Amino acid sequence: MLIRPLPFKQIADGLAEEGYALADNFLSPAEVTDIVETDEFRNSKLHLRKAGIGKRSKQTLEDIRGDYIQWIDPTIAPPCVRVYLERLRALIEYLNQNLYLSLKDVEVHRTLYPVGSHYNRHLDQFKTDDHRKLTIICYLNEDWTSGQGGQLRMHLPEGPMDILPLAGRLVCFRSDKVEHEVLPATRERLSITGWAVDRDPNLF
Ligand code: OGA
Ligand code: MN
Repeated sequence: MLIRPLPFKQIADGLAEEGYALADNFLSPAEVTDIVETDEFRNSKLHLRKAGIGKRSKQTLEDIRGDYIQWIDPTIAPPCVRVYLERLRALIEYLNQNLYLSLKDVEVHRTLYPVGSHYNRHLDQFKTDDHRKLTIICYLNEDWTSGQGGQLRMHLPEGPMDILPLAGRLVCFRSDKVEHEVLPATRERLSITGWAVDRDPNLF
């Protein structure tokens, strides 16, 4: 049973006022451990695949992004992952009610950045498809220190802001507005990356 208060109001206020929000302990240390110890992350080489990029790019994939991903099918996800998905759905419900949004679903993938890999500066909303409204990432890296790199760098109007990928930390931002990048790290970097979308599930 969940007895910690969830930081939904803090997240809603951040999104409304700044276009981004940060919430530590969105997942408890035990919840993070359970997810990291699922087979999908423990045997990530079997489950995760190199993430792709658009067709028309002149740059090579390695120049742009080095992460490995696996889309999560909620109907077959392990219970500890479903706990997270349910919490995201509750967050989306809260945001719909309090910020008058019409978010309908979340699309999430497991993500692993190998040592030294990065993701160049980009926006998450596609030019040809604007269904992605909010980017929502939860980090799964215990005892991460700033010397290890791997920051999420958000490019905000007031300047860049770096966020460490600390276990249990949720970061959420407007997919159409906040350009961001992932800096290389000296250790593997795990997360569940997702988007709140304004279309019904399975309509694509
Ligand atoms: C992405 C992304 C940022 C991060 O997957 O689109 O920008 O901190 N991720 O993992
Ligand atoms: Mn992104």
